[in-house]
Amino acid sequence: MSAIRLENIRCLYEETIVLENISFAVDEGELFFIIGGSGCGKTTLLRCMIGLLKPDQGDMFYFGKNFLSEDVEEQRMLLKKFGVLYQSSALWSSMTIGENISLPLEEYTTLNKKDRREVIALKLAQVGLAGAEELYPSELSGGMRKRAGLARALALDPKIVFFDEPSGGLDPVTSKEIDKLIVEVRDTLGTTMVIVSHQLSSILRIADRVLVLDHETRGIIADGTPYELASNSSDQRVRNFLNQS
Ligand SMILES: Nc1ncnc2c1ncn2[C@@H]1O[C@H](COP(=O)(O)OP(=O)(O)OP(=O)(O)O)[C@@H](O)[C@H]1O
Ligand SMILES: [Mg+2]
Repeated sequence: MSAIRLENIRCLYEETIVLENISFAVDEGELFFIIGGSGCGKTTLLRCMIGLLKPDQGDMFYFGKNFLSEDVEEQRMLLKKFGVLYQSSALWSSMTIGENISLPLEEYTTLNKKDRREVIALKLAQVGLAGAEELYPSELSGGMRKRAGLARALALDPKIVFFDEPSGGLDPVTSKEIDKLIVEVRDTLGTTMVIVSHQLSSILRIADRVLVLDHETRGIIADGTPYELASNSSDQRVRNFLNQS
């Protein structure tokens, strides 16, 4: 069974169609990358997949469950299995890292304060930030903020993590460390990861599969492993992108 399966999804804002005929499946534990030029609809597709934007056509299945036909309570249960990391890490600057990670625990679990503390310590250790509970986001480097954001996204032991631009604003060395962490999390926890990225080096280094979206056709122009697409994609632009280095 696929972790995620989209069938003929169409996303629009008001009257404007951004994406149509979107069909693909993601295996459990896959590092699945979504790429494509600015404005082609990557973030729109993520928003749609995490229930923030309702597609007007198509179906979305998570572990075999048809998300769009479930009732609100069942949708909430499914959404609990998702961890989301927005581009800016979106940590609350007035709260410590520990308090940031505590938020989803307070909202979705009945854990008491002591148990929450244990989970927070564990999640921070998982991302290489053991002991950072009392620090504020402004005291962390860009790479550490991404780690803290990932710790928060992992707080509820999600089955799927959605990650918009993990290497956005990071230098190549830090970006490589984040890639390593993403692989580590997948390998130890079996988490399925859907990652929007522009970073060719990350794609070639860690992507199991790549989905390429295109603004003009409002759809998928390629879907495969980076190496398949680099040598065999029927789309010249896709081959060019993956072969530059
Ligand atoms: N809230 C909105 N209302 C109307 N149109 C929108 C909205 N958000 C995005 N769009 C339009 O939808 C299209 C896709 O935008 P989207 O943000 O999904 O692209 P993207 O691939 O994530 O781009 P980038 O690489 O720059 O982040 C763009 O043409 C954009 O102008
Ligand atoms: Mg975007």
